[in-house]
Amino acid sequence: MNQIVAKDLVRIYNKLSDQEKEKLQNSTILITGCAGFLGYYFMQFLTRYKQEFGIKQIIGLDNFIFGKPRWIDELSNSNKVNLYKFDIINDKIENIENTGKVSMVIHMASIASPVFYRKYPVQTLEANAWGLRNLLEFYKDKKLKGLLFFSSSEIYGDPDINNIPTDEEFRGYTSCTGPRACYDEAKRFGETMCTLYSKQYNLPVGVARPFNNYGPGMSIDDKRVVADFAKSAYQGRNIEVFSDGTPTRTFSYVADAITGYLKILLYGQYDYFNIGIDNPEISINELAVIYKKKAKEIFNNDIEIIYKKHADKDYLTDNPNRRCPKIDKAKKILNYNPDILIEEGVERFMIFLKEGGSNII
Ligand SMILES: NC(=O)c1ccc[n+]([C@@H]2O[C@H](COP(=O)([O-])OP(=O)(O)OC[C@H]3O[C@@H](n4cnc5c(N)ncnc54)[C@H](O)[C@@H]3O)[C@@H](O)[C@H]2O)c1
Repeated sequence: MNQIVAKDLVRIYNKLSDQEKEKLQNSTILITGCAGFLGYYFMQFLTRYKQEFGIKQIIGLDNFIFGKPRWIDELSNSNKVNLYKFDIINDKIENIENTGKVSMVIHMASIASPVFYRKYPVQTLEANAWGLRNLLEFYKDKKLKGLLFFSSSEIYGDPDINNIPTDEEFRGYTSCTGPRACYDEAKRFGETMCTLYSKQYNLPVGVARPFNNYGPGMSIDDKRVVADFAKSAYQGRNIEVFSDGTPTRTFSYVADAITGYLKILLYGQYDYFNIGIDNPEISINELAVIYKKKAKEIFNNDIEIIYKKHADKDYLTDNPNRRCPKIDKAKKILNYNPDILIEEGVERFMIFLKEGGSNII
C-alpha cells in the first residue's frame, strides 16, 4: 500500500474512540459511490481494519460513470468487499445480495466536480434526490444503526460577510435555477428528506457537509481546483488559474475529513455537521503558490502560475467568494479535531502521486 495512505489510515484509526470502534462490531456496511475520491479512503480504511473491528461485510456500489479505477479491481480480488456496478437512481437495492441485512449506509453516489455536474445535471440531481429516496424508502422500516448522507458546503451558496465562517444554522444563499442548482438544490432537498425520514421513521440519519476535501485518492483529472493544480505540479506544467485568484477557501485534507465522516456515521443519531477545517482561509492564488513550491520540492519541477479563461463558460457563475466553516459543533459533539494544514496536506498528496498514486486512481 502507498506509504502516505498507510500512515493516514493509522491516523484515522487513532482518532476514533474505542466506543466508536466497538459500534462497527458485527456491522454490514453499504457504501454508494464507493469508487470515487472519498470512496477510496473509506474502502481502504474499512477493509484494512475489517477483521479487527469485526465488520461482517462491506458492500460497495458504483455506476463507474467515469470508469473503474485500478484500485477497485485490486480490492475486488481481495475478497474483503462485495462490489457491484449499480446505478443508485435506476437500479433496485433489493436485487443486491444482503442489502436487507445492512446495519450502516454511507451514501456518497453523486457527481461532485462542478465541471462534470454541469455536464450531467439531471443525473446529479437524481442521485442526490431519488437515489437517496430509494435508500430511505428501502431502509425506513429496517433496524439501521446509521445512515450517512453526503450533503455539501454548497448548500450555503455564497454567504455574506456576516456568515463567514459559516455555521450549521446559516440557511444559505443559493440559486434554484443557475448552473450549480442541479447540485446545490439537490443536496438541500436531500437534507430535507433526511430530516423528514429520520423524524417520521426514527431513522438515525447523519448529514455531513464537506468543505473542499483534497488529497490522495482524488483523480488528477477530476477538474476541481485542487486536482487541476496537482496535475500541473505532477506533470511539470504551468498552473492555470481560471479566475483572478482572489476567492478564498479552507482546504480539508482527506484523512481529517474521513475521520469526521466516520464519527457522524457512528454517532448514530439524526444531526447535521460541517466537516472541514477552519484555518487557514487562503485565496486560490495562495493555493497556487503552495502547489508551485511543492512541485519544485517533490518533483523538481519549475512551473509558473498563469491566468486563463476556462472553456466552460459557467465555470465562475455562482462560484462562492469565500468558503470557511465553523466546526465547533463537530468538535464539541463528535470530538472532531482536524489538524493537517494545507502545506502538509498538499505535500502528502504530491508524495502519494510520486509513489505511483495516479496509476491506481
Ligand atoms: N470531496 C469533496 O470535497 C466534497 C465536497 C462536498 C460534497 N461532497 C460529496 O461527497 C460525496 C463523495 O464525493 P467525492 O469527492 O468522493 O466524489 P467523486 O466524484 O470522486 O465520487 C463519487 C462517486 O459516485 C459515483 N456515482 C455518481 N453517480 C452515481 C449513481 N447514479 N449511481 C452510483 N454511483 C454514482 C461515481 O461513479 C463516483 O465514483 C458526493 O456525494 C459529493 O457530492 C464531496
